[in-house]
Amino acid sequence: MRLLKTALVAGALAVLSVTTIAAYAQDTKIGFIVKQPEEPWFQDEWKFADQAAKEKGFTLVKIGAEDGEKLMSAIDNLGAQGAQGFIVCTPDVKLGPGIVAKAAANNLKLMTVDDRLVGADGKALEDVPHMGISATKIGEAVGQAIVDEMKARGWKAEEVGAIRVSYDQLPTAVDRVEGAISVLKANGFKAENIFDAPQAKTDTEAALNAATVVLNAHADIKKWVSFGLNDEAVLGAVRAAESVGIPADGMIGVGIGGADSAINEFKKPTATGFVGTVIISPKRHGYETALNMYDWVANNKEPEKLILTSGALAKRDDYQKVRQGLGIQ
Ligand code: GLA
Repeated sequence: MRLLKTALVAGALAVLSVTTIAAYAQDTKIGFIVKQPEEPWFQDEWKFADQAAKEKGFTLVKIGAEDGEKLMSAIDNLGAQGAQGFIVCTPDVKLGPGIVAKAAANNLKLMTVDDRLVGADGKALEDVPHMGISATKIGEAVGQAIVDEMKARGWKAEEVGAIRVSYDQLPTAVDRVEGAISVLKANGFKAENIFDAPQAKTDTEAALNAATVVLNAHADIKKWVSFGLNDEAVLGAVRAAESVGIPADGMIGVGIGGADSAINEFKKPTATGFVGTVIISPKRHGYETALNMYDWVANNKEPEKLILTSGALAKRDDYQKVRQGLGIQ
């Protein structure tokens, strides 16, 4: 009788612990906040984060926060919903200390993706786990792709103007364009032929406006290259060139991203001045960050403090292959 009782109790406990684990996984709620929800890159990040949520059985709450106010209320909202943590690509990295404080006040674990938070001194908040791209290296790959295409077209550095579509308040954006510039300079490009086109926002329209100013101010230059923090920036410069009558063979634009913005351009029946993009991985940035946050919340496994991902150059004729290689098809 006693044995039977023990067996029954053990059995009940086993059932209990299984249900507890299941309930716990179900109760895990993770936020994924992005600064520009309409941008294909961020759509892809969400898509891959959803995949992690499905696999692990947690709830993913996707929120778009285009400004600081929306971001702060999104964090409060996640806290009120009983979430345990969130991943964020902030609309403004200088909100860093405020975001950290808000997360703590709501008892939420915090990880950042793409854009790393900075403190009042402008230095990265190294305690917050972050996944970003290897910005300088990827910028160098952009610069090299531009130089190679210039050679293929027989262009001489001194006859070419470069549009640096810039968003200098964001450190990763600076690293990307400076990476490209270092390669251009190493290949004979003169500093005075590189023109800054500061964009007010990191989208195509803002880049188009900024690049148009440069093109109009230097109407004597007929051959152009352009680069920026993402595909949208470079597409803006390419559209600006088209609008002032520079043909596709007078522009070499190389972007960063490789999501639909670039792919739709490659799918056009005729090649445009957007000749390539360094494809980065929304799968790593979406799936892996979500998984790492889940492991932190559910299994108390702290994520690495800094993960930098790589990219691969793709053009009109090989982008499908490159995407497949990155597992993002
Ligand atoms: C920044 C850019 C995005 C994308 C990511 C990649 O957030 O604004 O377009 O390039 O970096 O990390």
